[in-house]
Amino acid sequence: MKTSRILVTGSAGRLGRAAVTELVARGHTVIGFDLRPTPGLPDSIVGSLQDAELLNRLAAGVDAIIHLAATPDDARFPRGTAPDDGDNFLSDLVPNNIVGGYHVLEAARKNGVKRVILASTGQVVDGYLDAGRSPVKADWPTHPRYLYASTKVFLEALGSAYAHAHGMKVLAVRLGWCPRNAVQVAQIAASAEDQDVFLSPGDAGRFFAGAVEVDDLPPFAPVFVTSLPLGKHLYDPAPAKELVGFVPQDSWPTGADDY
Ligand SMILES: NC(=O)c1ccc[n+]([C@@H]2O[C@H](COP(=O)([O-])OP(=O)(O)OC[C@H]3O[C@@H](n4cnc5c(N)ncnc54)[C@H](O)[C@@H]3O)[C@@H](O)[C@H]2O)c1
Repeated sequence: MKTSRILVTGSAGRLGRAAVTELVARGHTVIGFDLRPTPGLPDSIVGSLQDAELLNRLAAGVDAIIHLAATPDDARFPRGTAPDDGDNFLSDLVPNNIVGGYHVLEAARKNGVKRVILASTGQVVDGYLDAGRSPVKADWPTHPRYLYASTKVFLEALGSAYAHAHGMKVLAVRLGWCPRNAVQVAQIAASAEDQDVFLSPGDAGRFFAGAVEVDDLPPFAPVFVTSLPLGKHLYDPAPAKELVGFVPQDSWPTGADDY
């Protein structure tokens, strides 16, 4: 297999570390990029998505970008929930998820990067699950949960626009739930539905590696990625299998405590 040079944004995070581990194990050259140092990647770059010039420099000569850096959820759902009325839209979601995504795709365009894997979320179709409609197909209109999910809908749209305007291949990965802390592990443990959208770090790493290694991709596609459900598929797993050859190996709770 040909090895590649890959820029991973958000490389110090829960899924970033999973991606980096698998990519390094497969012999790829990984440039980690995060607000904090990336464990296991001593030469990782510490910086912010707001630094467009730095991103431009880091994207030079890379074969693919895996863009994971983001504010990974709403601070409050819905707005108005006690103890205060706040949300994190203007303070975090807009600069990190919307402006940051733009800077990453611009860096890809300016440097002729041919493949970009964007971290989206199953939350972009959450409304269907609330209405009892599953498995959700990747080509259904989005039905976002709230503000965070709406920023990911925008990121998907931006990826689609850049793919068609600039000839790059963009995959929007609607990720299942890989818990970031003990509270989230407990939430999933208490819910059969959440267990069916669980994503283990091992499966996440194998998906991201597969997405950069597969020979070709369509210009743009959204795909769902979860581990094997214990109950039923809430998201259609077929596009990830057809496009990337991804077949999950784990089920809840493999790797859940490994945050
Ligand atoms: N973990 C999940 O269950 C899940 C589910 C669906 C989608 N996602 C998406 O996957 C991606 C990774 O999520 P995660 O769970 O690993 O989150 P995480 O919070 O563990 O990791 C995100 C990383 O991004 C970095 N980051 C944030 N803002 C940054 C900025 N401005 N510049 C540089 N780095 C920045 C953080 O320091 C952090 O290390 C996110 O885009 C998230 O929205 C995660």
